[in-house]
Amino acid sequence: MTAFRTLDDLGDVRGKVALLRVDLNLPMQDGHVTDVTRVTAAMPSILELADAGAKVLLLAHFGRPKGQRHSTMSLSLVQGAVEQVIGREIMFIPEVAGEVAAQAIGILRPGDIGMLENTRFWPGEEKNDPDFVRAIAANADFYVNDAFSAAHRAHATTEGLAHVLPAYAGRAMQAELEALEKALGTPEQPVAAVVGGAKVSSKLDVLRHLVGKVDHLIIGGGMANTFLAARGVDVGKSLCEHELAGTATAIMDAADAAGCTVHLPYDVVVAKEFAANPPSMRVCNVHEVAADEMILDVGPQAVEALGDVLKTCRTLVWNGPLGAFETTPFDAATVALARMAAALSKEGSLTSVAGGGDTVAALNHAGAASDFSYISTAGGAFLEWMEGKELPGVAALEE
Ligand code: 3PG
Repeated sequence: MTAFRTLDDLGDVRGKVALLRVDLNLPMQDGHVTDVTRVTAAMPSILELADAGAKVLLLAHFGRPKGQRHSTMSLSLVQGAVEQVIGREIMFIPEVAGEVAAQAIGILRPGDIGMLENTRFWPGEEKNDPDFVRAIAANADFYVNDAFSAAHRAHATTEGLAHVLPAYAGRAMQAELEALEKALGTPEQPVAAVVGGAKVSSKLDVLRHLVGKVDHLIIGGGMANTFLAARGVDVGKSLCEHELAGTATAIMDAADAAGCTVHLPYDVVVAKEFAANPPSMRVCNVHEVAADEMILDVGPQAVEALGDVLKTCRTLVWNGPLGAFETTPFDAATVALARMAAALSKEGSLTSVAGGGDTVAALNHAGAASDFSYISTAGGAFLEWMEGKELPGVAALEE
């Protein structure tokens, strides 16, 4: 992996103005932040810089306001939640650049923390407009990017700033890059990947990339049905992208050629209707799915076998649930396999890395997240990384 500078490479920052790009795109319900994981992730960098005497300016986007001010997407809405997590007061600055911002920043003392307004209120953010980049940079001495989960965007504050100010990876970014490097860059072998979720079409590039990287590709969720159908299995009325049969076959052929074993379920949980604990639910062999049934989870025997596969592996990358995990009992396979992976990780025989919105929710639901070696805070960025793409925000730090 190319080297990038971290906070360890900063000299004396006392009195200097730090632009700290964090991801404060937090989930909200009824005006309240419902999950502060991303704030907790950013906290070490915020406090480290503040405690070293820098004037810390938090820089983040919130929602997709498309270049216009929207009161419902002001970052001031998350200010209280951030203050509560980090245990410090923050001065909110309703601009990101210009005279008003400069004056407000002038008031900050060493160790103070300011929060600039939602960067996406200005069209220059998503356009990565050089004038906008320079205007933000004008008020600061250096730039720290701690927002891996926004690093797949080549925006002014995720990419552009790294070219005009001395740039460093924050602690969360550093931890993320180190964990991902261990998982797919130079992993201990054998490597397994679990890829689940509803649709093959949303993860085609992930699957294509992984077959050349991992020894075992475990496919679950609705996308497994597309692969089963491509192998000639009648999947009844299961969610299935029949039109992608050719693509699925090509992925399986590429896996064969690369020596990667693709694991599809051989027993499954089916039901005639999709509801919690439906009376028609039963476990059967994949070849026995009736025309009016749908596959809703991986069966218990297949889960057992997958657990045995994980026991032979040293590294695991996980994205997506194995079944329709939001509805009981179709969470069973995801929960069981996640717990097996967590136990192996705790024992030290497996390095396990998981990411993606649904995945983290599923692992939390299984009570397995805390024993995974690393849980990414990223959604889209994690997927693009699994596709083998270079993330612009990361690449800019490595230059
Ligand atoms: C996220 O929430 O995954 C990141 O903050 C990126 O947000 P975006 O998809 O709106 O760019």
